[in-house]
Amino acid sequence: MSSQLRIGTVGLGLMGSSIATCILAAGHTVTSLIKEIETADEARNRILGYLQQLSQEGLLTDTPQTVIERLTITDDVSLLSNHPVVIESITENIDEKKRLYQQLETVLAPTAIIGSNTSAIPVSVLQSGLNHPERLLGLHWAEPAHITRFMEVICGKDSDLAYAYEIVKLAESWGKEPSLLKKDIRGFITNRIMYAMLRESFNLVENGYATIEDVDRSLRNDLGYWITFAGPFRFMDLTGIPAYLTVMKDLFPDLSNSTETPKLMEELVASGAKGVQNAQGFYPYTPESAKEWEEKFIDFSYDIRKLAQTYTPTATDDTK
Ligand SMILES: NC(=O)c1ccc[n+]([C@@H]2O[C@H](COP(=O)([O-])OP(=O)(O)OC[C@H]3O[C@@H](n4cnc5c(N)ncnc54)[C@H](O)[C@@H]3O)[C@@H](O)[C@H]2O)c1
Repeated sequence: MSSQLRIGTVGLGLMGSSIATCILAAGHTVTSLIKEIETADEARNRILGYLQQLSQEGLLTDTPQTVIERLTITDDVSLLSNHPVVIESITENIDEKKRLYQQLETVLAPTAIIGSNTSAIPVSVLQSGLNHPERLLGLHWAEPAHITRFMEVICGKDSDLAYAYEIVKLAESWGKEPSLLKKDIRGFITNRIMYAMLRESFNLVENGYATIEDVDRSLRNDLGYWITFAGPFRFMDLTGIPAYLTVMKDLFPDLSNSTETPKLMEELVASGAKGVQNAQGFYPYTPESAKEWEEKFIDFSYDIRKLAQTYTPTATDDTK
């Protein structure tokens, strides 16, 4: 694929906006399909704001104003015809996503690739019933998608691996460091591991072993200290493999295996808490402190990106 493409995105919510920003910043022309056209100006301003941040960080070659001119926001699906890649980031709902893919298939060329930013719906489920299921891939981004280097490219049972390789190459040109899953598994790599961590975090808090603050503090200072550098397998290499086997024997049977959702989480969600978005979460916030946390998270994302790039393993390091 050439370096400057017409790329489609669908949905300009939290993630869709940062995904569109990433692709615009990489030099492509973007057409974004949305459901409520009256939200177009708000979405455009949000994306312009992200582009201005990228510019301040020295990560944009053109001016934000020039870059945003390459963005068209529409509610007309036919404007996506002639786009070789379309990335969907709409609400996490199987029926909605499948309805959208059927609509897309009426206008896209048979070889156009559709990527879904689903968090945990199996790609095989999403592609079933499509005219060209082989062109649908999972394309899992991490927020804020215009800053993070994370991406998982996931094949469902009918995906054509050649398309997955094309997307991996393209994503590298967007500044990503993608991982390829050749077989579909619910939750992919990071969500499986993150949710195992969340389950154990609730186990410790709900059973009175530690407070929310203590769990957060421990993880930030232990896992948070090394994981951007090494990942779990490299970390075991660095710190001595046999001890991990010994601990596994004792600890695995003791870890939470609960299939119930945590009570604490159920109660918090029922009370209307959404996190910093509405200043209600596991911690107390005022609207001002919630905004400060959001801003600090963006600053941190840029800093950790710079640090990670200094230490990013090269392909040869990975196989040595
Ligand atoms: N939030 C995250 O950190 C995160 C991380 C990875 C993956 N995801 C996944 O990304 C997707 C979007 O998540 P989000 O957090 O951006 O949600 P969001 O609620 O902020 O945005 C969803 C957007 O999709 C729009 N939409 C719904 N149906 C549509 C349609 N048919 N056509 C066009 N637009 C439509 C909605 O209007 C809304 O703006 C979900 O599948 C989610 O699981 C989210």
